[in-house]
Amino acid sequence: MSWLLKSSIGKKLIMSITGIALVLFLLFHAAMNFTAVISEDAYNTICALLGANWYAVAGTGALGALVAIHFIYALILTIQNRKARGSDSYAVNVRPKNVEWASQNMLVLGIIVIGFMVLHLSQFWYKMMFVELMGHHEVQLGDTVVSPQDGAAFIKYYFSQTWVVIAYLVWYVALWFHISHGFWSAIQTIGWNNLVWMNRWKVASQIVATLICLIFAFVTIYFYVRHLWCPFA
Ligand code: HEM
Repeated sequence: MSWLLKSSIGKKLIMSITGIALVLFLLFHAAMNFTAVISEDAYNTICALLGANWYAVAGTGALGALVAIHFIYALILTIQNRKARGSDSYAVNVRPKNVEWASQNMLVLGIIVIGFMVLHLSQFWYKMMFVELMGHHEVQLGDTVVSPQDGAAFIKYYFSQTWVVIAYLVWYVALWFHISHGFWSAIQTIGWNNLVWMNRWKVASQIVATLICLIFAFVTIYFYVRHLWCPFA
């Protein structure tokens, strides 16, 4: 088992498995958010289910561990690669043909994604699950007081603010580049590829990234535009 933690391929495998698990979470999270467009009551029912119960808290802990492992191994692998390349890393950075831009900027893209996630968690998770865990049943959102389980109220409050919407859209662009390369790369590391399948997985990767980011963007823009048209809905 120690090869998994010590060898370079073992570390890449850990990054691949945690990355794929995070993609699955994002598919679920995007689908869950889309529910808010169809029915706010249904969305709030899901938010209540994911509130302050120990199953949900265990899920949050597992998710936190996945992000932490994925990020720590990304740092270790990057440092190792830099060391292995030695003075080459100071050479003029000419990107070889066929190497995607995203593949060379995965760490920076990941840091951007995590940075926006801190903002997102402080706006949503902290005022919802954390507040409930602290035993509160009300939370201040602007001028109003709402239930920490009223996810629809949070969406409407934050996505009525232009700067939040712009920040989230920038976040989704970084996320798109990160997933579109990461998913394909994970499949390659796991070994589910050959010449024919390599290109198919590349396309599949872009479809998965587009699906996730498009749903997030749709929900964000939908509530922004809805607020512009009918501010009191
Ligand atoms: C339309 C965009 C989004 C909306 C409306 C949204 C909404 C929410 C809500 C309501 C929660 C709190 C759930 C609860 O604790 O009851 C939450 C948690 C969370 N969101 Fe989002 N989210 C969006 C985009 C994203 C994106 C793009 C990511 C990651 C790249 C993300 C990652 C997370 C994580 C990690 C949590 C904590 C989950 C947990 O507690 O288990 N969200 N989000």
